[in-house]
Amino acid sequence: MASKRYAQIVGWGKYVPSQVLTNDDLAEMVDTSADWIRTRTGIVERRIAEPRETTSSMSIKAAQAALQVADVGPERLDLIIVTSVTPDYLFPATACLVQDALGARRAGAFDLLAGCSGFVYGLGVGSQMIISGAYENVLVIGSETMSRIMDWTDRNTCVLFGDGAGALLLQASDAPGGVLSFTLGADGSGGDLLIVPGGGSRHPASAETIAQGLHYIRMNGREVFRFATRIMGHAAKEAVRAAGLQIEDIDLFIPHQANMRIIQSAAKHLRLPMDKVFVNLDRYGNTSCASIPIAFCEAIEEERIKPDDHLVLVSFGAGLTWAAAVVEWHVPLPLPRPPWWKRLLRRVGYRWARLVSRLRRTNRQFNSWWGQAVGRIRGNNNG
Ligand code: ACO
Repeated sequence: MASKRYAQIVGWGKYVPSQVLTNDDLAEMVDTSADWIRTRTGIVERRIAEPRETTSSMSIKAAQAALQVADVGPERLDLIIVTSVTPDYLFPATACLVQDALGARRAGAFDLLAGCSGFVYGLGVGSQMIISGAYENVLVIGSETMSRIMDWTDRNTCVLFGDGAGALLLQASDAPGGVLSFTLGADGSGGDLLIVPGGGSRHPASAETIAQGLHYIRMNGREVFRFATRIMGHAAKEAVRAAGLQIEDIDLFIPHQANMRIIQSAAKHLRLPMDKVFVNLDRYGNTSCASIPIAFCEAIEEERIKPDDHLVLVSFGAGLTWAAAVVEWHVPLPLPRPPWWKRLLRRVGYRWARLVSRLRRTNRQFNSWWGQAVGRIRGNNNG
């Protein structure tokens, strides 16, 4: 009989842009104050991508870091899932851009859209791909360039969001643990509460949609707040129950970093003391799909996670959606850093992947040009 398989988290990585936008900076841009933002949201500053940075470029950096931690080469990846509400393009999928840049030749790649809950949705899908026996290594990325869909004159939204990326690598294992359970939920009747109305098939991009600002995020903050405070605790409880655990068994709660008051309300609902809750919202704001993987990485960096700990990840977002997962941690920390020659080899590998990608593109262009040229010559000869 085949032994039971588990999806363990064996690699993690994050990337945040270096450009910092503080509450004081925002107070000079819109009618708000640093104090209002801090007291109503818990946010003090956020990171903003440079013009050259995109959701894919940040995903690639986070992915490379996760692969390095796990000492797994990109050629061993079976699947790459990018979760984001700000993909580089409507298509191709950002995951394909990541697959190409990593040189993950064997990997399937797709994007998953579930609002800010996307990352936990991705973790659910990725872990099942492993537990079912289909795949060995699945990379789940949450990456956002929220600054690109922000109306920087709308104080209701522009103070809340930030940019960044995080990635977790799931790997098949016989050792019990890893992603123990998850719960996913949706209520599409609340789709209008948090929406980017323009640029899709309902309102295709046009001069009119741009003039009306339909390409910006629109949010009914009060209603989203009400929904979030109700759903976070419920979702967490459901995932904990599905894992066969009690709330008291939870060592660290890693919630979506949207608003400190939402996080506190969820902790209160679960009767969790705040020292069991991980918060880094003050430094990054709401990075949507990237918020949980970035927080996860920082919880590891700050040594808040130890072997045998039970973690709860819980999120809510546009859709409306919600998702929670329970993870049993097994990796002893801190991990030794790979030797310099391995890191060098990996860097050379990524350069090589870039070169191969360019060669493929050039080859395709040449074949197309050659085909047309031959066609033209034949046409001339026949005529
Ligand atoms: N500065 C000053 N005043 C402001 C600001 C601001 N930046 N933003 C709103 N206000 C004003 C409002 O206009 C309102 O004024 P009014 O009473 O004259 O109309 C007043 O503050 C109070 O408004 P509320 O909405 O009640 O403020 P609240 O305390 O609830 O905070 C906030 C607003 C921070 C937006 C809160 O509702 C919230 O966090 N909601 C959840 C948002 C969220 O998490 N969204 C992301 C979901 S994830 C995803 O999928 C992308």
